[in-house]
Amino acid sequence: MKYITKDGSFTLLNTDYNETYHPISGAIKGAYKRFIEPTLLGDVAKRGAIKILDVALGLGYNIAAAIEDIKKKNPDCIINITTLEKDSNVFSLIKKLNPNIKSYKIIKELAREYEKSKKEGKADEIVIKHGNIIIRALIGDAVNTISRISTKFDAVFLDPFSPQRNSELLSPDFLSKISLRMKKKARLATIIKAGKLKDSLKDAGLKIVAGTPEGRAPGIVAVK
Ligand SMILES: C[S@@+](CC[C@H](N)C(=O)[O-])C[C@H]1O[C@@H](n2cnc3c(N)ncnc32)[C@H](O)[C@@H]1O
Repeated sequence: MKYITKDGSFTLLNTDYNETYHPISGAIKGAYKRFIEPTLLGDVAKRGAIKILDVALGLGYNIAAAIEDIKKKNPDCIINITTLEKDSNVFSLIKKLNPNIKSYKIIKELAREYEKSKKEGKADEIVIKHGNIIIRALIGDAVNTISRISTKFDAVFLDPFSPQRNSELLSPDFLSKISLRMKKKARLATIIKAGKLKDSLKDAGLKIVAGTPEGRAPGIVAVK
């Protein structure tokens, strides 16, 4: 089911969770306000290379918007994104969507690559290279697939469904695995502000620096 959000962009309902992939307050606007701006991608991009961990891909709006923003700040920036997603159905949804984000064509390329790899019987990891952009998608429960990552990231987008239904992505153990993969001064942004999340992030070695202004909940920004 398709919903039009308040910024005019569309989102979809995930029927397993009975939740939309993005807030009705604005799917694309929310990506910028709640993930891209709080993680200061533009500042990192000016240094010439950026590594982003995206939990989770969903419909790929956050990473498409991130690529768009980075390219505006520094067209030559080398962009390396690792995205984790357990539901391979998102790729067929992505193929049908056309959000107003120029770089979404790269997310569609990722979806096509998934279909190709699936036919070849190796659909647990997809890598695409598009100019100076590399996207690696690990398909499976992020709680497990995170162990396959040895990269250290400049920014983390933590974008689960609601904490009641998606608690594994907010567990202290998972957060500490994320923290271990963040560079010093790297930023994590999430729209979730569930009771113990701040404490779990602090226990994982992160410092809370702000709430994000938009979204279902005020959210949290934390720095390593
Ligand atoms: C709110 S949506 C993410 C929206 C996405 N960031 C975007 O920009 O379109 C949450 C996503 O988390 C995925 N997910 C939920 N639990 C997961 C898990 N344990 N491991 C990996 N992905 C998970 C869901 O399948 C869903 O696609």
